[in-house]
Amino acid sequence: MSDDTELATEAQIAVHWKEEQYFEPSQAFIAQANMQDASIRERFSEENFPECYREYADMLDWFKPYDQVLDSSNPPFWKWFVGGKLNVAYNCIDRHLAQHRNKAAFIFVGEPEEEEPYAMTYQELWVRVNEMAALLRDHCGLKAGDRVTLHMPMTLELPITMLACARLGVVHSQVFGGFSGKAAGDRIADSGSDWLITMDAYWRSGKLIDHREKVAPALEEAKSLGKTGVKVLVWQRYPGKDSSKTPMVEGRDAFVNDILKDYRGKRVEPVHMDAEAPLFLMYSSGTTGKPKGCQHRTGGYLAYVAATSKYIQDIHPSDTYWCMADIGWITGHSYIVYGPLAIGATSVVYEGTPTFPDHNRPWRIAERLGVNIFHTSPTAIRALRRLDPDAPSKGPQNFKHMTTVGEPIEPKAWRWYHEQVGKGKAVICDTWWQTENGGFLISTVPALEKMKPGSAGPGLPGVYPIILDDDGNELPAGSGKAGNLCIRNPWPGIMQTIWGDDERYVDTYYRRFCKNPDSKDWRDWPYISGDGAIDAEDGYYRILGRIDDVINVSGHRLGTKEIESACLTVAEVAEAAVVAVHDDIKGTVPEVYVSVPVNVTDRDAVATKVIRACEDIIGKIARPERVYVVPDMPKTRSGKIMRRVLGAISNRRDTGDVSTLANPEVVEEIRILVQSR
Ligand code: WT7
Repeated sequence: MSDDTELATEAQIAVHWKEEQYFEPSQAFIAQANMQDASIRERFSEENFPECYREYADMLDWFKPYDQVLDSSNPPFWKWFVGGKLNVAYNCIDRHLAQHRNKAAFIFVGEPEEEEPYAMTYQELWVRVNEMAALLRDHCGLKAGDRVTLHMPMTLELPITMLACARLGVVHSQVFGGFSGKAAGDRIADSGSDWLITMDAYWRSGKLIDHREKVAPALEEAKSLGKTGVKVLVWQRYPGKDSSKTPMVEGRDAFVNDILKDYRGKRVEPVHMDAEAPLFLMYSSGTTGKPKGCQHRTGGYLAYVAATSKYIQDIHPSDTYWCMADIGWITGHSYIVYGPLAIGATSVVYEGTPTFPDHNRPWRIAERLGVNIFHTSPTAIRALRRLDPDAPSKGPQNFKHMTTVGEPIEPKAWRWYHEQVGKGKAVICDTWWQTENGGFLISTVPALEKMKPGSAGPGLPGVYPIILDDDGNELPAGSGKAGNLCIRNPWPGIMQTIWGDDERYVDTYYRRFCKNPDSKDWRDWPYISGDGAIDAEDGYYRILGRIDDVINVSGHRLGTKEIESACLTVAEVAEAAVVAVHDDIKGTVPEVYVSVPVNVTDRDAVATKVIRACEDIIGKIARPERVYVVPDMPKTRSGKIMRRVLGAISNRRDTGDVSTLANPEVVEEIRILVQSR
């Protein structure tokens, strides 16, 4: 990368901790594990690729068997389980009914502690999904291939709606409930959705939040992008009662709970979908301002999340499994809804914040429901540790298995999780993957491989990671050197493309290190993750963080360009630059630099407007940690903003040689401004 485009990346600020000792899974865990057979590595070795993945596809029920495991004749547009037909809702619900109709599919825990947990059986889920599917088909006129945008909070109506879409082959696009209306509007327009499905309100940190107020800005934004006539369905948090103060719009908005009355007892045959039909879109931030609609397929995706739920999460029929994430992110799609249900498990859905009304809430929920598999993010672990480091060891929870995901976890936090939360006996899987990937790609197989705090582990069986240098040369295995983390082979969970933008898909994930663009051999098309990593001697990967202009805040991805464009909507802001800054709890956080014309003197007012713009346009999650209003940006002679210099100042690092800048004097001025705060 040339000097003037170099960015303040996460990988540059990554903490380089020392190699750690290994931890062994307990004999008790090993004895009960779903995957105890070390020959899985052999079965999924490169000689057996791609046929090895039959084993995963065989975990599903197919209406029509597939003819070919992988069609890689048009790289990088991979096709999995070609010719096969199946239905995701059928696999997640119907096929479990004969034996497990009375088993809880979901246990819903509302945030208010006085509301009792609610267990929804597979039978009831089946009824509710059928009725909702009938409504979507007959009331909304939706059919296979149509897209629907969901902007829903963490209640069971969200997976019900997703599964109802899947039953029909309708492509759902769930937007994280905490995102702004405008963010939902962009995704409505990009996906071409005629319907927005939302909820009136939900509980968060003790407040019943008016969620319907986001509908108007969403539709306004969609309209500004040319998408008009969007209709709105509103679920009620408390059926029969409207919990939002925002008026309903006649002819546009309707309550799902009202219309559903006409669909009582209706049943809908699961549509036989092509293995390659898109199942859902999940928008994710990239290096430009426009989020990418990661398009996930039906057969490969479901096979991959089912198998990884069974072997990496180690979920058994008798377990109670809780992934404390939001269904609005890929983690929730794959490991709250689709993976666990595909294997007939019981999955806990918690509505609120982990620290409401206090930081012992997660352990009380775990005790009450008998949770024995727990899944969360390093940010949540660090936050709980800070609030009360001794609390969990005295808590009632009893975990056999714990997962972390979303960001690197430093050995100190890992050991606390292991000793205090897991009481020294739970295994930990540090799972590395991305929205684009569908499911875990790097982790230890819990009963077969030792844990090493601070390192995610080796590639999963059938996944062959490599580290490439900036020229695309492969670093030897176990080199211990940092480089670009790539995956050499396609796998069934990988996205199909970016919705409506094949070229951007190729450009973002494959172009740079493709050995030969005419090649029809998958070996010439490594997948580029955008992360930096080190492959240690033992074959364990240590993830260093993003090397592109993407920031990972509390395990959620934000594009710096997205935040910068939000800042630029403030009239007084002339230029904006966003950098990633190390944070003890959230891993990294965005800091914003804006320059204003000399006649603007009320800098605090500008900073406040910038924060509000980020919250309104993207969501609270994009709230900058700090805003610096500076006289000018450090720039190259060609006028490019040097984010690297700003990143160094924010992270209290050496800025390096700045003498070649167009305005080197401004660097010192900014440093004083920032470091005096
Ligand atoms: C980015 C993907 C799908 C997981 C949730 C986030 C970072 C993810 C780990 C891990 C270190 C991790 C990477 C990746 N990341 N898991 N175990 N250790 N870093 O999904 O929003 O698509 O973000 O999260 O930087 O590129 P996402």
